[in-house]
Amino acid sequence: KKTIFSGIQPSGILTLGNYLGAVKNWVALQDEYDCYYCVVDLHAITVRQDPATLRRRTLDTMAILIASGIDPKKNVLYMQSHVSAHAELAWLLNCFTYMGELSRMTQFKEKSAKAGDNINAGLFTYPVLMAADILLYQADLVPVGVDQKQHLELTRDIAIRFNNIYGGVFTVPEPYIPKAGAKIMSLQEPEKKMSKSDENENAFISLLDPPDAIARKLRRAVTDSDGEIRYAEEKPGVSNLLTIYSVLTGKTVAESEKDFAGQGYGVLKQGVTDAVVAALEPLQKRYQEVRGDKAFLESVMTENAEKAAYAARKTLSKVQRKIGLAPRK
Ligand code: TYM
Repeated sequence: KKTIFSGIQPSGILTLGNYLGAVKNWVALQDEYDCYYCVVDLHAITVRQDPATLRRRTLDTMAILIASGIDPKKNVLYMQSHVSAHAELAWLLNCFTYMGELSRMTQFKEKSAKAGDNINAGLFTYPVLMAADILLYQADLVPVGVDQKQHLELTRDIAIRFNNIYGGVFTVPEPYIPKAGAKIMSLQEPEKKMSKSDENENAFISLLDPPDAIARKLRRAVTDSDGEIRYAEEKPGVSNLLTIYSVLTGKTVAESEKDFAGQGYGVLKQGVTDAVVAALEPLQKRYQEVRGDKAFLESVMTENAEKAAYAARKTLSKVQRKIGLAPRK
């Protein structure tokens, strides 16, 4: 069986973008692969976090993933900080990654432009920790949205570089990016991706938004003045709504356009609202049950951290040996 690794930051309640770009595929792939799904709290602290909020959100994230259909018995669903090998391998890989490579990461450029006086070293080496996450488990496939593609390429470069020096140590992973839904856009600025940390709440749909909030946010979604419902590059707002509708209903974009032929944007927005509410209702119901059971969530985290640590230790030991670190007897 092949191995999958993917991660998500607990930096806010997951959005429809996270769901359509990543989590939906995590669920779809869980039967065919050995999957490691990780809540990456160490990545989240590259931005200042309030401790109580972060603590709450890590549990929220864990519960949302389970409510989305990820079976914590079948998959290794765990917290990054519970497995110290992530941080250890990240340090080692830092010594095989160049400043120039990290400076070229578009996510770093964007985030550091917004970070004010907190352009910390963690923000810069963020992709190295990500490479460590993936390479520790010898993952073959990494299901992500399109915004993570560049980080995946760097992960591959680091793995290949390391393998060339020391002989085959790491599996070189492939990205798994869905054809549709890999980049859901902001409802307010449809040239930008939808993000859970957006300051404007109207820009994203959270997976826990009640139906009336979903309807309101979609009613306010930015479109254009041309009035025609079709998918086109120069119509990012309308195209984004059509994408959301088509991924959720399983229809093609052409079929979705047909569903709304000759109608106004109000009808499109109502159609998208219905599709989103239908998809999120069962998820939200399960979420309430799972989130309320703290003992269950804690046992999931503990058991899975043990499984992850076991697999991670194997790779880490091998890397330490190859580099020439003295083995601990
Ligand atoms: P994060 O937490 O920003 O997002 C989690 C996943 O959701 C995808 N995604 C989107 N897909 C479509 N449309 C959007 N608007 C959208 N926004 C986010 C992301 O591509 C991602 O797949 N660095 C990663 C977390 C990470 C990771 C890893 C991922 C850490 N280590 C190892 C894969 C493998 C991140 O910040 O994701």
